[in-house]
This record gives sequence, structure tokens and C-alpha cells, in this order.
Amino acid sequence: MAKEKTVYVCAQCGYESPKWQGRCPACGEWNTFKEMTVRTAKSAPAWGGHGGAEAKPIQLSSVSAEEEPRIDMHDQELNRVLGGGLVPGSLVLIGGEPGIGKSTLLLQTILGLTERRVLYASGEESERQIKLRADRVKAAVGENVYLLCETRIEQILTHCKNIQPELLVIDSIQTMSVEGVESSPGSITQIRESAAALLKYAKENAVPVLIVGHITKQGSIAGPKVLEHIVDAVLQFEGDRHYFYRILRSIKNRFGSTSELGIYEMRAEGLRPVDNPSELLLSQQKQELSGIAITAAIEGVRPFLIETQALVSTAAYGTPQRSATGFDLRRLNMLLAVLEKRVGFKLVQKDVFLNIAGGLRVADTAMDLSVIAAVLSSNVDTAIDSTTCMCGEVGLSGEIRPVSRIEQRIAEAQKLGFRRILVPENNVKGINLKLFHGIDIVPVARVEQALRELFG
Ligand code: TYD
Ligand code: MG
Repeated sequence: MAKEKTVYVCAQCGYESPKWQGRCPACGEWNTFKEMTVRTAKSAPAWGGHGGAEAKPIQLSSVSAEEEPRIDMHDQELNRVLGGGLVPGSLVLIGGEPGIGKSTLLLQTILGLTERRVLYASGEESERQIKLRADRVKAAVGENVYLLCETRIEQILTHCKNIQPELLVIDSIQTMSVEGVESSPGSITQIRESAAALLKYAKENAVPVLIVGHITKQGSIAGPKVLEHIVDAVLQFEGDRHYFYRILRSIKNRFGSTSELGIYEMRAEGLRPVDNPSELLLSQQKQELSGIAITAAIEGVRPFLIETQALVSTAAYGTPQRSATGFDLRRLNMLLAVLEKRVGFKLVQKDVFLNIAGGLRVADTAMDLSVIAAVLSSNVDTAIDSTTCMCGEVGLSGEIRPVSRIEQRIAEAQKLGFRRILVPENNVKGINLKLFHGIDIVPVARVEQALRELFG
């Protein structure tokens, strides 16, 4: 007799509770509890459960620490986001909104992996549709790629026994189901059981498994959140549909850094890795316009220059609007307050719109200084010299605080032909100025001072 019990799981954070609750005690979200059935240990699920051979304690010192060679995905962006290639036996979730390009990315990647046998299991598209997509990305289809249109995990794993793939792709986890689990595909129970089965397969056979998971704008599908706890790495594929750039971001990675970023451009013939993001992120305006400031930013290990655009106008209605695309709105409000208090600019009656070029979301605090500069530039309608860029975190008292990897930022600016860069004063002490020629390094300690440098 299968023993089943009902638990309630928070769709936001995966918190489990024996009874339904209106508000999740862990993440504080309202109305996120969903019912799911779990099997007790005695009734192992159809795929066999985690059981099997009993584990024995061993001495840590006797564990070999030699790193397994990683699998080169033949895509520098993907390799970097994975932390230097795919780890054998790892379970990686690629999350993203529907239509963002997850299937395209994975298909393109496996078509490029000609030396490895790959099984692409799809519950979303027919063989013909996948073939059409493969033709579209114009990759030569090698002998090593196997397609399987199947939604039952047991069947997929049975085929794996025969084909012995070196990489398994599951597109998508929401369409998969495990036999003997009552709920429908896409429910938390099915997603969890399917993922657990895939995890077991990955670990036992040392075959890496890439799982596609859809998330909606509101993040309302429980799956990927619950999945995040199970998988080794979570990569998020994001981007604005109105832009052609797609960003692959690592949110969780047991084998690498989570601040890595991969940038792609979606073209009619598939995704193109962008190795020089600055080219895309600067709008290449020839004439100087007000409201634009350029930051020497860093995401992960990669420096790039990115444009901040601001528009400040007199508020038409009582309450002024503040809106930010690609930048934290609270941080914008904080910076506007600093600008008011420390520099004395009256922004109370002004609408402020802020936009980071390319629809990119950058978490680098070195953006602060350019946000302030762009806002002021728009407010006084004076352009900032287009060969000047800057970086610096702004503190509440208007001080400019040091940023990480300053040399890399300066080097990137120099490479792209910038003549002048404003850097936090506290950063300058550590830099070997002799390394940089043809770029003027201007140390600034306070916002007022930076603005004087920019606007005279
Ligand atoms: P898809 O990979 O199907 O998205 P997902 O798997 O995340 O749901 O990508 C779908 C979008 O990508 C679709 O709107 C068409 C576009 N696309 C291109 O622009 N170029 C291409 O070469 C391909 C294959 C798709
Ligand atoms: Mg898809």
C-alpha cells in the first residue's frame, strides 16, 4: 500500500507546511501555498527512490579532490556562466519565460557538441518542429544527436540505457511526469518527482542533465522554485522581447560563481554569443545628447561599458513619476535624495525616467555615479563629453566609494577609446597609473566634485 500524505508547499520559496496557510512564514508571500502529495519512505516512487546501496561514512582526507575535467560546450558564454564548462553528473536548470529562447539555446549547443552523444527529450515539440528549428540555426546535424518526443520520465530513462548518452536534455520539466504519481504534469509533485529521478540518473551515471523550466513573469509556477533546491545549478535566460539581447545569468551554481553573465543576440538564424558586450550596450551615438552617462561596469569577471539614459522633465500632475528600467527603483530614489540634499538640485516637481541601454539589468553598484550624472545632465540639458566614462558607488552622504576591479574597468575603457574616466579617489592609491596611457584618470571623492569635473 502506497502511503501518501498531503503537504502544502509555498510556490515562492518551497517552504513546506503540514497545513494550508494564507501567508508563508518563510518568505512572507500571501496565498502561495499549493497542495501536494508526498510518499512516505516506505513507499518508494516508481523510479526507485533515492534508496539503493547504503552509504558508508568515509574519511574526508581519503576523498580524491582532483577536479573532474569539465565538458567544453563550445560556447564561451555558456562555459563561463557554468563556471568553466559543464560538470559531469551535474543537474542544471535553465529557467526563463516562454519564448525567450531556451530551446533554441540548448538545441544550438548540442548541435555544436559534435563529439558527444546527446539525447534531446522534448515534451513540447514534435520531431519535425525540432528539425525545422535545427535547420533554422543552420548547424550541420551530426550523427550524435538523438531526438525523443516523450513526456514519461521512465521511458526517457529506459531509452537512456540503450543510447547511453553523454548529455541528456529535458525540454521542459513542466511537461514531464512520473508514473504512479497522481497529479498532472506541471504540478509541484510531478516536477519534484521528475527532477528527483533525473538527479538520481545524473549522479549514478555521471551524465550531465540540462533541464528546461518555464517561469512566468510573476514567477507563479511553482516548479522552478521547488527545483532550485534540487539542482546543482540554475541558469536564468532573460531579456526583453523588444530587444534582441538575451542574458544568461547564473543564480545558483555549486561549481562556480553566481555573478557570471553570458550575452547573446537573438537572430533570425539562432543565437549569437556576444563576446564584446560594450559594442551592443553603447548606443554609438555620434552627436552628444544630454541625459547620457557611460559606466565602466563589471558583471562577474567581465568588464564592459554600458550606457545610462535619464530623462528629467517637469511633472505634469501632482505626484512626480519615478521609473527605472534595468535599475533598482529604490536605489534610484536614494540617489535622487542624495542629489537633492548634497548637491542642492530641486527634483521634487520633476518626473525622472531612467533606462539602462539594451534592457540589461546590472547589479554593479559602480553604476551609481553615472545614474546621478545622467539625471543631472538631463536636468540641466547639457551633454557629457562622449569620450568620458565613470564608475563609483555613491554613499548617503554624497561620498564616492571605491569599486572592485578598478584596473580592469580602466583597461576596458581605454580599449574602447575613452579619453577620461572618473574613478573613486580611494581606488586610485592602489593602481599602477603607468599601465594606462592615453586615458586621463580623474580621482573623485564626492558627488559635487564629480559633477564639477563633468559639467565644469
Ligand atoms: P524558443 O527557443 O522556442 O523559446 P523557449 O524554448 O524559451 O520557449 O524561442 C522562441 C523564439 O525565438 C521565437 O519567438 C522565435 C525566436 N527565434 C529566432 O528569432 N531565431 C531563431 O533562429 C529561432 C530558432 C527562434
Ligand atoms: Mg521551448
